[in-house]
Amino acid sequence: MDTLASYDELPYDSLPLPETQPDFVAAVARLHGFDAPDPTRARILELGCASGGNLIPLARRWPESECVGVELSRVQAEAGAAFIQRLGLPNVCILHGDLAALPDDLGEFDYIIAHGVFSWVPPKVRQALFDVCRRHLSPQGISYVSFNVAAGWRRLQPLRDALVGRTASGLSAPARFEQALRVLDELDAEWTDPALRKEIAYLKSAAPSYLFHECLAEFNAPMSFGEFAAQLDAHGLRYVGEAGPRRAVVELEDAWGLTPEGMAGRWLDAEAALDEAEAIRFRRALIARADAACARPPASEALAALAFHADLRCDDEIDLGTACEQAFANPAGNAFPIAEPAMKAAAMILSMAYPGALAYPDLLAATRQMMADYGIAETLDEAAFREGLFRLVVAQGVMPTVSATSGGSEPAERPCAHDLARLQATLPGWVVSGARHVAMDLDAPGRLLLGLLDGSRTVDELAVMMHATLADTGQELPLEAVRAMTHRQLWLFARQGLLAE
Ligand SMILES: C[S@@+](CC[C@H](N)C(=O)[O-])C[C@H]1O[C@@H](n2cnc3c(N)ncnc32)[C@H](O)[C@@H]1O
Repeated sequence: MDTLASYDELPYDSLPLPETQPDFVAAVARLHGFDAPDPTRARILELGCASGGNLIPLARRWPESECVGVELSRVQAEAGAAFIQRLGLPNVCILHGDLAALPDDLGEFDYIIAHGVFSWVPPKVRQALFDVCRRHLSPQGISYVSFNVAAGWRRLQPLRDALVGRTASGLSAPARFEQALRVLDELDAEWTDPALRKEIAYLKSAAPSYLFHECLAEFNAPMSFGEFAAQLDAHGLRYVGEAGPRRAVVELEDAWGLTPEGMAGRWLDAEAALDEAEAIRFRRALIARADAACARPPASEALAALAFHADLRCDDEIDLGTACEQAFANPAGNAFPIAEPAMKAAAMILSMAYPGALAYPDLLAATRQMMADYGIAETLDEAAFREGLFRLVVAQGVMPTVSATSGGSEPAERPCAHDLARLQATLPGWVVSGARHVAMDLDAPGRLLLGLLDGSRTVDELAVMMHATLADTGQELPLEAVRAMTHRQLWLFARQGLLAE
């Protein structure tokens, strides 16, 4: 197969995916007692990388890393290669080809990422993906493989079946997508199951490429966790842990003196039971070679050696004096109820430091200091602090990473955005990647402003240019309003680490 026509016709929105970034993956692995390699100088392989929206920002962040992407759709692979060439990044390349036929001399990788690939390819390619992991993982390397889980997909299967059955498979991907939108309207009128109706509403607003490739593509093969783990076993691989947010974790007491190896069977059974109990439909599995040290369920003690970042806000005045529950939300809109005063303080401290990351001892000390500053006399119990932080980390309200880092730079007199952000902003179809590998949802004026930040213009000159350009496009705004908007945007860019020192 020379190319994958469906992805040529309807390319995937190629975005940075925070849960795949190796410093986060390494931190999660460490929570599971597994010592993953230094991400800053790692060899990183991404399978099915689309046009590199996830891989390229990683390569830019870590100049000493070496990043290789593999992509079967010629259109996407070539778009990624052209972008890399324009950026002039020497440590990343995208190979056009089949992950099932990789050149033998690719060598070993510390991180292998395959997001949105495993469940959506033919069975032979699924096996090949595990073969690649076994052949190309370094001894302590970690693979990230996401997959659709049978426990949650059982309820959604009628929706995919109806979409596949009521649309014409011979149509081009864009034409079939249009037909699918009409079928969703029909199903909305016909069906009463609340779970399916919720999914219909979601699919109507989702990106066209998502609807097509998730619900109409030839392959979408959800698998039970048990079968996934058994296939890992058959390929000389082993489960390390979960990189997605979780409402519950499996906790196993080593009460019978079992070694981690002996616990693995019970742990995996408990993970499978959790999927059924919570109707889990998607997993982001971390995987290692079977001959590497055995991982175990995550343990809060491991937090002490990690660092943390969070971008949370609370719309109410934060009450540190009482243990009343307050809702904190991240920019993606996910809510995290927090009651413990110390955790509210920690959320505030991390959010003020964002995109910087604080090491555990510094976060603990800053939390103690904030509690004291607010006149809260009670001494902070470290065990309770650790457990509270652990819950937030598992839910991904707070993100773990492997080392502390400082925050972004403030807007300078003549603001200058880094080269990657400016290129992403000016090329249609590319998404701007913010600090911590988040996809930024910028409107047209925001992209325009970012593209102008080459360090040659003062903030005032930028505001005047924005004012004139907006007027040209029919948006007549007072200069003062555009000035205020320009300032706000610049501070947002600064918070997202887009501005050069
Ligand atoms: C659902 S998309 C996911 C893209 C990207 N990883 C992401 O999550 O945004 C799956 C990607 O895998 C690619 N793909 C499918 N089969 C492949 C194969 N055998 N070898 C390499 N890439 C493949 C597709 O072309 C497509 O870009």
